[in-house]
Amino acid sequence: MPTLTREPDSTIQSGPDMPPLDVIFGSTPAMQTVRAKLAQAAATNIPVLIRGASGTGKEIVAKLIHRNSPWGNGPFVKVNCPAIPGTLMESELFGHEKGSFTGAYNRKSGRFASADKGTLFLDEIGDLEANLQAKLLQVLQDGKFSRIGGEHEESAEVRVISATNHYLEEDMGTGAFRQDLYYRLDGISITLPSLAERREDIPHLAEYFVQHYNAAFSRRTPSFSPQGVKKLMDCQWHGNIRELENVIRRYVIFGQEDASLADIKHHDTLTYVPEISLEGDISLKQITRRAVRELEYKVISRVLLEHHGNRTMAAKALKISYRALMYKIRDSGIPRLRNISPKQAIAVPEEEVPDA
Ligand SMILES: Nc1ncnc2c1ncn2[C@@H]1O[C@H](COP(=O)(O)OP(=O)(O)OP(=O)(O)O)[C@@H](O)[C@H]1O
Ligand SMILES: [Mg+2]
Repeated sequence: MPTLTREPDSTIQSGPDMPPLDVIFGSTPAMQTVRAKLAQAAATNIPVLIRGASGTGKEIVAKLIHRNSPWGNGPFVKVNCPAIPGTLMESELFGHEKGSFTGAYNRKSGRFASADKGTLFLDEIGDLEANLQAKLLQVLQDGKFSRIGGEHEESAEVRVISATNHYLEEDMGTGAFRQDLYYRLDGISITLPSLAERREDIPHLAEYFVQHYNAAFSRRTPSFSPQGVKKLMDCQWHGNIRELENVIRRYVIFGQEDASLADIKHHDTLTYVPEISLEGDISLKQITRRAVRELEYKVISRVLLEHHGNRTMAAKALKISYRALMYKIRDSGIPRLRNISPKQAIAVPEEEVPDA
């Protein structure tokens, strides 16, 4: 593949479906380095390897490079390496001829061909199986490939961007990842900092997500209070920007700052400590009833979010009838959350989107 370049240009553009650049890069030195490298990478079509922990923005960076590259108007084709096993992955990448394996009912072209004059984004490249690593290396060397069962070689001009959260040096040490492939992929290397390494950017990111989800869900949830912002800046954020975004989406939907922030450090568990006044007469019955209602509110809200607002699935998960769940939603005052379209629900990564 010929190397395509244009003058490096530091004025990269964001896109309509992306946060503005001042949000993406913030003001920390670590992200300014990323910005400069991204501009360099965008000016050429040599392979880029993006490294960083989960949720640090590897896909956003890949899309920005593509959009600002000489082939920015061409296709951006993503392949999620661990999601597709064995032969299917080979077919996914290079295509197959009809009848070349069980289940190959039709001739199909692969993602490499689809990415011609564009970008192929190989996500989680560290999980690619050994035989496919060898095939990928070959394609990167001569730009030619064959469909499974195919007799002819095909070619495509493809810029490859790969991403990983593996420590590939270690994988090469154990033989799990080919060294020659690594050097092919690592034309320009961009390493994304964790959110903890760019804490100063958290207030700006938080404000952006509040505005963004207010607009998306037609809410008017206010910005975080100064104490709320401080709490956001103090957290661990093992899930990085994705985790921050999820917390803020939940806050915008429910509008309760304290409750949203109380959950942060215990994301996968649910902690509930009822406040019980021991003054005057203590009605155990009343206390128990109130505690149960509060706990139900928390659990139902969480399960609804986890099932994208689908009440049938939430009822199943909670092992109660649909009708019982509806009564509980009504009685506990959980918001109806009817403003979220299925499209928005799909656009949300892992967790939570209420009601369709
Ligand atoms: N710099 C950023 N500014 C604003 N939002 C960001 C930024 N980086 C990531 N995000 C948001 O965080 C979420 C995760 O980003 P992305 O999918 O790019 O991360 P990733 O590194 O590919 O994560 P994973 O390893 O889990 O696939 C997305 O919703 C994205 O919009
Ligand atoms: Mg990703």
